[in-house]
Amino acid sequence: MLPLHPLDRSGSATASRLAAIALLLLAAGAPIPAQTDAAKPAAAASASAQITIDASKIVNPVSPMLYGMMTEEINHAFDGGLYAELLQNRTFRPSWMGVEHWDLIRNGNSVAEMTPDKTTGPSAALPHSVKLAVTAASAGSEAGIANSGYWGIPLRARTTYKGSFYVKTDDAGVGPMTARLVADKTGATLAEAHVDLKPGAWSRYEYTLTTGAIAASSTNHLELTVEHPGTVWLQLASLMPPTYHGTPNGNRPDLMERMAGLHPTFLRLPGGNYLEGDTLQDWYNWKTTIGPLVDRPGHQAPWTYWSTDGLGLLEFLEWCEDLKIEPVLAVYAGYALKGDHIAPGKDLEPFVQSALDEVEYVTGDASTRWGAERVKDGHPAPFPLHYIEIGNEDFFDKSGSYDARFAQFALALRKKYPQYKLIATAPVKEAAGAEPDVQDDHYYKPPAEMMDFVHHYDNAPRTGPKIFVGEWASMSGVPTPNFGSALGDAAWMTSMERNSDLIVMASYAPLLVNINPGGMQWSPDLIGYDALNSYVSPSYYAQALFAGHLGDGTPQTSVTGAGERFFYSATVDSKTHTLHLKLVNASTADQALTIDVKGGTGRTASVISLHASTYEATNSMTDPGRIVPKMSSETIGAEGWKHTVPALSIQVVDVPLK
Ligand code: AHR
Repeated sequence: MLPLHPLDRSGSATASRLAAIALLLLAAGAPIPAQTDAAKPAAAASASAQITIDASKIVNPVSPMLYGMMTEEINHAFDGGLYAELLQNRTFRPSWMGVEHWDLIRNGNSVAEMTPDKTTGPSAALPHSVKLAVTAASAGSEAGIANSGYWGIPLRARTTYKGSFYVKTDDAGVGPMTARLVADKTGATLAEAHVDLKPGAWSRYEYTLTTGAIAASSTNHLELTVEHPGTVWLQLASLMPPTYHGTPNGNRPDLMERMAGLHPTFLRLPGGNYLEGDTLQDWYNWKTTIGPLVDRPGHQAPWTYWSTDGLGLLEFLEWCEDLKIEPVLAVYAGYALKGDHIAPGKDLEPFVQSALDEVEYVTGDASTRWGAERVKDGHPAPFPLHYIEIGNEDFFDKSGSYDARFAQFALALRKKYPQYKLIATAPVKEAAGAEPDVQDDHYYKPPAEMMDFVHHYDNAPRTGPKIFVGEWASMSGVPTPNFGSALGDAAWMTSMERNSDLIVMASYAPLLVNINPGGMQWSPDLIGYDALNSYVSPSYYAQALFAGHLGDGTPQTSVTGAGERFFYSATVDSKTHTLHLKLVNASTADQALTIDVKGGTGRTASVISLHASTYEATNSMTDPGRIVPKMSSETIGAEGWKHTVPALSIQVVDVPLK
């Protein structure tokens, strides 16, 4: 999707705002550098506005789970993204182009062929393989196969990579197999290991490769070769770098740290459209995503590519555990993206049972059928769970079947698990006992529309289901949001904070994008990366700041005289006695304010600012620090706090109240 224009703006051009030069590494937990030079905005200022805050009068609670994350397999979020596996097409799936991402190696005078073989594989889930038939090979004339990874294989100095593969061979003399990491540009061997092969049935082999003092790069590939004639069949070839917390079959550390920096409280999983699949055959059948990798067939995902399911249900849950957040578990509810649905009633029963089993896998103890399965898979402790979502975007189902499908799931889930809150993905005509606790609303809008939408929930009824804004984003910027989007997002977040008595959870989408050519199916996306590095967008910083400075109640406030594109929210943390104020000026004119904080006189407010000179300004892989938060402080005087929010700025202000 392309960025949406034109953006709405007003006022004259803004002179660039001076600020202390500092890079914020929010995700890494580094301190935010101080702003040493008071900014002197040059643009015409709007008339001064007055904000009055009585922090002692709390009018509404703020949901403790307001900010979370949403995920699905899109933009190579998992395969070629968060999931640390380095080999692409590790299960040798053939296509009309051959066995993609694998090349045949025929060094020197070797003679060899590589062909897909549908007749043999190591498991029922992987019943096929690739056959490497070598008729001539010797030292210096090796034959084998090479994998180019997900847009290269990223390698770093003095790092150990764990490799494995399944092999079957009838030839005692064909081995050993050599695993070699090779620099694409020079052919230099960067690490090497030898694996003895034993003739007979399919066996799994492991090896390690350790690099020396190399420069980090992703222009590398893996070679698996032999020096003797013979035939070997290969399947499930894997290469894992160090993972977050060292978890086996785990995640890429930099992306986990980026996510931790968002201060999330939950992860909505596994989708999104990824839950549904394009057709009724492609639904997210979680039972095929657990257990040993060799027992996971993978499945066709809706965003054009195959999912290995290496990051399966248990890995989703461990991801939550690693970030100390809880899953918001979406269960498949019988609707496919292309419009088909499963009729409520008998046909839907197996899917309802699957959902019940899934909840049991997540939360059950060892005495339950599926809890025991999770224990067997290596995770004895049940996972915390409070919310279950039934389907995804079922408002697209024009057949009208969602009312009955929701009711069938809700009644069964409530009967067995009355303690969990149920989320509907469209308004439902309520059946007795099947009322949704929460409704999931999604908003993707250009920044200007997002800003115009901020009063949507102000007068919404408080008597029906609570609201989960399960997907939302201001849509401008490719591949990641530009500053106009950050302003739209920040404006929207002020409205969610103001209405957090109703909006219990919210999650931006999509979260991740592999920025390589062909890696992206949707833009903008919050966090960008290639094989080696990652960067974060201005929207990421806005969200990290909003979530990291959130109170538990909204105080009584009022504003008069503010410009059209000025937005604010205030929350109070009753434990730390801090007022968290969010000020968003999406106009090109400065906004002068007098802020009357009752009880705030003499206190020093810390101000974190995010600013750019245009809506189009953005961060990128080559310019990751263009827009970063900067810190300053101001003292609140007896006459109220005279404060200017510069044009095109997002500010998060903390005022100690004691
Ligand atoms: O976030 C991208 C997609 O947008 C999600 O998969 C879907 O739920 C929505 O339509």
